[in-house]
Amino acid sequence: MSLPHSIFRNESVLVPEYVPSTIPHRADQMKALEVYFQGVVEHSSRMSQSVLLWGPNGTGKTTLSRKLGASLEKKAVLYGNRVKFFHVNCRIDRSLQAILTKGLRFLGHDHPSRGFGFEELLQSFLDALTEDKVHVIVAFDEVDSLVTSDSSSLYTITRLRELSRDSQVFSSLLISKTLDYLKAVDLSTLSSLQWNEISLAPYSDEQLYDILFSRSQEAFSDGCIEEDSLQLAAEIASIYGDARYALDLIYRAGKMAEMAEAPAVMPEHVRRAKASLPPQFKKEELTYLGRHQRLILMAISNLLKKSDSAYVTIGEVEKSYDALCEDMGLAANHHTQLWNDVNELSRKGIIQTQISGKGMRGRTTMIGLSLVSAEQLVDELKGMVADVRG
Ligand SMILES: Nc1ncnc2c1ncn2[C@@H]1O[C@H](COP(=O)(O)OP(=O)(O)O)[C@@H](O)[C@H]1O
Ligand SMILES: [Mg+2]
Repeated sequence: MSLPHSIFRNESVLVPEYVPSTIPHRADQMKALEVYFQGVVEHSSRMSQSVLLWGPNGTGKTTLSRKLGASLEKKAVLYGNRVKFFHVNCRIDRSLQAILTKGLRFLGHDHPSRGFGFEELLQSFLDALTEDKVHVIVAFDEVDSLVTSDSSSLYTITRLRELSRDSQVFSSLLISKTLDYLKAVDLSTLSSLQWNEISLAPYSDEQLYDILFSRSQEAFSDGCIEEDSLQLAAEIASIYGDARYALDLIYRAGKMAEMAEAPAVMPEHVRRAKASLPPQFKKEELTYLGRHQRLILMAISNLLKKSDSAYVTIGEVEKSYDALCEDMGLAANHHTQLWNDVNELSRKGIIQTQISGKGMRGRTTMIGLSLVSAEQLVDELKGMVADVRG
C-alpha cells in the first residue's frame, strides 16, 4: 500500500532482479532463443540444444533468460513434455559440483553433499532426470567465472549431452559478457558445443528511454516523473548502453525527489542521483572497456605510478602502450585509434585530459586520473590481463 503522496507506486519494480512484463527492443532476440529451443520443447527426449547468449552488462541477458525459461516450461506442457529451466549464476556457484548439487535439489532430489565423487554426482544428476522424464535446460549465467575457476567445466557440460544419448535430458544456455572465455577451450569441446550464438548490443539512448518509460509506468505514481527526467537518465546511461545503470539512476532520482518533497522527479533529481553515485571508482566500468582501452589505461597508470606529477603526456602514453602491446605479442593500434580510445576513456570520466599550457614545448595533450589512484588501477587491471591477452 502506498501513502497518498508517494512518488513511487511500486519501487520494487526497479530492483535489478525484478522481471518486467515487457522487454522493449529484445523481441527479435527472444524470438531467436525460442526458435533454438523449440525442438527441445516439442521432442524433449530426442533433442538437446546448446546456445550462447552474450553481451555487455545491463543488456538484458539475465532477464531474457528468465523470461525464456518461463515460456519454454509452459510451452512444453502443451506438447505433453516436462521441461524445466534451471538458472544458475556461476559467479556465486563457481564449480560444476556445486551447480549439479543445487540442480538435484531443484529437481526435488536430495544428494548427500559428502562422500560422493564428481562422476557419481554427474550420474545421479542424469539418473534423476531420466527417472523423472524431465529435460532440464541449465542457464549458466556468467559462465566465464566457471570456466576461469575450472577449465574442464565446459568439456563436462558438452559431455553431459553425450552421456545421455539414449534419451535426451540436458540442454544448456551459456551466458557471458564476451565470448573470450571460449578462446581457452580446446577444439574438440568447441566443436561439440553447437555454435548457436545470440549477441545483445548495448542499448542506444532512444532504446533506454523506451525501457525507462515502460518500467516507470509500473514504478512511479501517475504524473510523478517528468519525461525530461527519463530522457536525461537515458542519455547519461547511454555511455554504457546499460539498462541496469539507467534504472538505478531513475530509482535514485525518485529517492532524491522524495527527500526534497518534490511533487515529481525532475531532471535536477537525475543529476543529483548521478552525483550521488559514490565518487570512488566503479570497478565495473573497467569491464566495459575494450582490450586496447585497457592496455592504454594500464600504460597510463604504470607511468603515473612512477611519476610525481599528476599528468603524463600522450606521447609518453603512446610509447608505453606500444611497449605493452609488443610484450603481449599484439599489434598496437595507430595514433588515430589511440586518440579515439583516449577520448573515449575521458568521456567515461575514467581519465582526464587537458592541453598543456606554459612551460611545455609546444602544446600536447596531458592525461591524468581523476577518480582512482594509479596503483589501485594497476591492481585492478592486472586481474584483467588474461582478458587483455584475449
Ligand atoms: N529490454 C528491456 N526492457 C526492460 N528492462 C530491461 C531490458 N533490458 C534490461 N532491462 C533491465 O535492466 C536490468 C539489467 O538487465 P539484466 O538482464 O540483468 O542485464 P545483464 O544480465 O545483461 O547484465 C534489469 O533490471 C532488467 O530488468
Ligand atoms: Mg546478468
